[in-house]
Amino acid sequence: MALGEPADIVGLIEAATRIGGILFRPDSAAADIGIERLRLCPKLGERFLGCDPEHAGLTLIDCVKIDVNQSKIDHLSRKGENIMKNGLEDVIAAETQLSDVDGEAGRLIIRGISLDHLIGETSFEDVAALLLDGMTEAPVEANDLAARLGSARVEVASHFSAVDATLISLPPVEAVRALLARLEDGEGFETMLRLLAAPAVFLPGVLRLQRGESPLAPDPALSQAADILRMLTGKMPSAEQIAALDAYLVTISDHGLNASTFASRVIASTRAGLTSSVLAAISALKGPLHGGAPGPVLDMLEAIGTADNAKAWLGDALDRGERLMGFGHRVYRVRDPRADALKAALKPLFATGQVDRARSELAEAVEAAALAILRERKPNRPLDVNVEFYTALLLEALGFPREAFTGVFAIGRTVGWLAHAREQALEGRLIRPRSVYVGPLPAAA
Ligand code: COA
Repeated sequence: MALGEPADIVGLIEAATRIGGILFRPDSAAADIGIERLRLCPKLGERFLGCDPEHAGLTLIDCVKIDVNQSKIDHLSRKGENIMKNGLEDVIAAETQLSDVDGEAGRLIIRGISLDHLIGETSFEDVAALLLDGMTEAPVEANDLAARLGSARVEVASHFSAVDATLISLPPVEAVRALLARLEDGEGFETMLRLLAAPAVFLPGVLRLQRGESPLAPDPALSQAADILRMLTGKMPSAEQIAALDAYLVTISDHGLNASTFASRVIASTRAGLTSSVLAAISALKGPLHGGAPGPVLDMLEAIGTADNAKAWLGDALDRGERLMGFGHRVYRVRDPRADALKAALKPLFATGQVDRARSELAEAVEAAALAILRERKPNRPLDVNVEFYTALLLEALGFPREAFTGVFAIGRTVGWLAHAREQALEGRLIRPRSVYVGPLPAAA
């Protein structure tokens, strides 16, 4: 419909004001969008004509639909009812004892311990025991958890018998999700152990199958990090490699109410079971706005090629309106503390020649050039390096192909998803927000 069809304006305004129920009158709704009352018609009621010039180019449907609903939101906000926040930004939707992300200070706390104190001294099993403590029927102790996790890895490996050509052709994280869907649902510790073990076994096995090799059987005597690397490469990893993967898994174990963790809590709030929570969470994680950035970081480094080319390449990318991968964050206004944790975790690999030095020097040059150009181009928005930049270097150095990076993220984050799901089930209520209806109403009888 084009602008200037007064008969239709009446219908739209009246329909739109019914959305607001008793809160709106047609003339105030019309005034809010710059449509003025034209005349009174005894048969058809009030007529309105005109539209705010800033809406030129919009159809009347656009004008009424967008602005009347915004007016309704403004009206309710004036009454103190905050009814909608796009993206739920700054909305507090849960209380948690698990982790705190301080975006101003650049600090991550996991169960009362700052990330910088956890790194280097903590294995995946330690952080899992820390996060799950109090979330299970019995206390969780790291040594006991390590042994039971080993047995769970052996148990879940039987699911490789269900792999077929279709599953192997999927991206690795989707193949892992398909295999996870075969696990029984439940709320207890045995279910948790299976869910912690499963992605650690499935991802290396799927990668091997995709290379035309057979999956390797888990070794229950090894730590989770050591066994993942052994099942990936077929070789016993070095102590430095095991420590580096442990540092990665600990660093990403939990991170406040991010999108996948929220998905996990929503499912848990319905009491559907932990497998369902993890399936929802991994589905959220694989989206490119969440867990999909580290692969593109490597693509960017390869496209830049040499340190000399960094400034010009990055400038051209920003000119094209692109975002620089591995920079910026929704919560952090300073450097992401996880980036430094992972940069530090790479150092021992340098010393033993297990990392590509040229790649790393290029990454440092690109980081410096990117920070300088972002400061210059976006002076009002503090943009710094995020976790994904050094994730890319670390996981590549450990032998993971870039298409598997999101799956490795899932291996580490499953423990956070499980802890949040249990916390929600133990303390939370059914998560059931409301929406504002902005669609058409049935025609009046
Ligand atoms: N490169 C260039 N500009 C960036 C940027 C980046 N990586 N991240 C944000 N910006 C800019 C936006 O273009 C925008 O500028 P404008 O106001 O001039 O339009 C401004 O900063 C704010 O962007 P906004 O969309 O509000 O940021 P956000 O907080 O919603 O986005 C991310 C957070 C992570 C999605 C975003 O920083 C991003 O896309 N980063 C690259 C992908 C990445 O590394 N993801 C992994 C995150 S852990």
